[in-house]
Amino acid sequence: MLGRNHHLKEDIRDYWSKRSETFDLAFGHRIPPGPELNAWVSAITTSLGDKPLKILELACGTGEVTNVLLSLGHDVTALDFSEVMLTVARRKHRKRQRVRFILADAERTMRTMEPDAAYDAVVCRHLVWTLTEPEQALSDWHRVLKPGGKLLIFDGDWAKPTFVGRFASLSIGLIDRIAGIDPHYDGAMSDRHQSIMERLPFGDGLTAEKLAPLLEAAGFEGVEVASHRPIAAAQRRTADLRNRLRTLLYRRFILSCSRPG
Ligand SMILES: C[S@@+](CC[C@H](N)C(=O)[O-])C[C@H]1O[C@@H](n2cnc3c(N)ncnc32)[C@H](O)[C@@H]1O
Repeated sequence: MLGRNHHLKEDIRDYWSKRSETFDLAFGHRIPPGPELNAWVSAITTSLGDKPLKILELACGTGEVTNVLLSLGHDVTALDFSEVMLTVARRKHRKRQRVRFILADAERTMRTMEPDAAYDAVVCRHLVWTLTEPEQALSDWHRVLKPGGKLLIFDGDWAKPTFVGRFASLSIGLIDRIAGIDPHYDGAMSDRHQSIMERLPFGDGLTAEKLAPLLEAAGFEGVEVASHRPIAAAQRRTADLRNRLRTLLYRRFILSCSRPG
């Protein structure tokens, strides 16, 4: 049976599938070795500790966060509902051990038979803002976590630029006019992006404050919010001016919480 969000989900899948081959070229998606990778390692270790865990990574896309998790020695099941995104991720990690890629809907992992209480941690970057059924998804993630397991979310409010971000956006527009538009940046498909945003539950912006009560209602406890600034600062160390400005556009957050033990 098709869910009530079938068309919206198909549009989201199609949007990301079309971006799969160039996704890593758009600033902020790839996590290059050096300061940025180190900042991600630090953010993930702060939340999950440094012992090898069994992790479910939701919406792995081209496998950039997968790379960070594998480099930390974790055992990773990485899922995405876009076959072409998975093709890129599989190609990138074809020589790696301890990783399994599966085609699955992150909001309903029971459909691909992910067992109850199977994972030490569930991790996702830039998925929650695009959920079509957030309550359903959160209760599913609670289900697959072992008691005491952790949910770690990297996301942001992509609907409204910050105060500083508005000036950054104007400056980026100016650079675009002088240097030409960056064809790989998210704005390149902005009409489709906008049409999807308008139909999403978090279409008017995702914040940790909005998410916390939904997590508690799904049975999670110990919600903690950490700053994304160290990652943005690391990105600025190697980025050009336009991309340095992009790190200032939106308010991002790192949120963790646990399934009670
Ligand atoms: C912004 S990309 C992020 C990719 C990756 N997490 C990263 O940060 O590099 C969003 C990804 O979420 C996937 N996605 C969106 N909704 C999904 C869902 N319901 N189930 C599985 N994957 C989903 C898309 O196919 C796409 O690969």
